[in-house]
Amino acid sequence: MKHVSLPGGEKIPALGLGTWRMGENAELLQSEADVLRHGLDRGLQLIDTAEMYGEGGAELVVAEALGKRRDDAYIVSKAYPHNASYDGVIAACERSLGRLQTDRIDLYLLHWRGQYPLDETVSGFERLKTDGKIRDWGVSNLDADDMDELLGVRDGRKCAVDQVLYNLSDRGIEWDLKPKLADNSIPVMAYCPLGEGRLLRDASLATLADRHGCTPASIALAWLIAQQHTIAIPKTSRVERIDPIVSALDIELDDDDLALLDHEFPAPDGPSALSIV
Ligand SMILES: NC(=O)c1ccc[n+]([C@@H]2O[C@H](COP(=O)([O-])OP(=O)(O)OC[C@H]3O[C@@H](n4cnc5c(N)ncnc54)[C@H](OP(=O)(O)O)[C@@H]3O)[C@@H](O)[C@H]2O)c1
Repeated sequence: MKHVSLPGGEKIPALGLGTWRMGENAELLQSEADVLRHGLDRGLQLIDTAEMYGEGGAELVVAEALGKRRDDAYIVSKAYPHNASYDGVIAACERSLGRLQTDRIDLYLLHWRGQYPLDETVSGFERLKTDGKIRDWGVSNLDADDMDELLGVRDGRKCAVDQVLYNLSDRGIEWDLKPKLADNSIPVMAYCPLGEGRLLRDASLATLADRHGCTPASIALAWLIAQQHTIAIPKTSRVERIDPIVSALDIELDDDDLALLDHEFPAPDGPSALSIV
């Protein structure tokens, strides 16, 4: 596994699995847990979830997948903005811990900005850290201006990641957010790294996949994790799609490959609003 360093120095996996749209149907719990377990067996230890996904159902899937293997995994979960007051985020975390059947979340994120001031949420996160209920905290869907604000509040510089939408067909963060995060040694955690599946129909990805003897999914992920400070969290509900994800770790894109991708998916030439799903 390739690793990425958090600002505090801890190294975490550069590639993991998402769980959005899991846990919405109890009948699928076992098959969804099987996918995450298969990922763990293949070295995908980082699992991204949220109290929002399946209204807690995805966290139950994660618990089912882990069983007695908690220490094999690096769990990322997220609090709803309406739970991001000082007391609210502590209570939300405790509910997530209960569903996840664990005593700690490795990385706990504010899912997106809401009505509570960032310094209040950060105080709650720091309390959770002191109490050993989370190891690190971060944010999601914060743009460059939001990050300036966060970095200015007490303990704001302890932010470990910003999880944002980032993939070949949506490179807007490269204009301002990504450089700002890099300046502060804060990794980008790229969600929708496969463009929710749509990106994989692109002809240039198919060309490169043929060249490397892999799938378009592997190319899309290899492009992300080749970048410094970048973590990708693709999601699949199919066991047979785990191997193409893992294969991304073995692919080295050369200058010609990167030039083709830059031509097909140009870098931004100006600022744009942060993309969100
Ligand atoms: N912080 C946030 O606001 C936020 C927002 C969105 C997502 N996320 C996180 O990021 C994770 C990933 O994002 P995402 O799930 O939205 O999108 P994604 O990972 O870009 O794409 C997932 C879609 O791609 C399909 N897929 C996966 N492998 C494939 C393959 N080899 N060939 C063809 N299709 C394939 C999946 O279908 P199958 O399931 O049928 O394989 C699924 O429909 C989420 O699960 C969640 O954990 C966070």
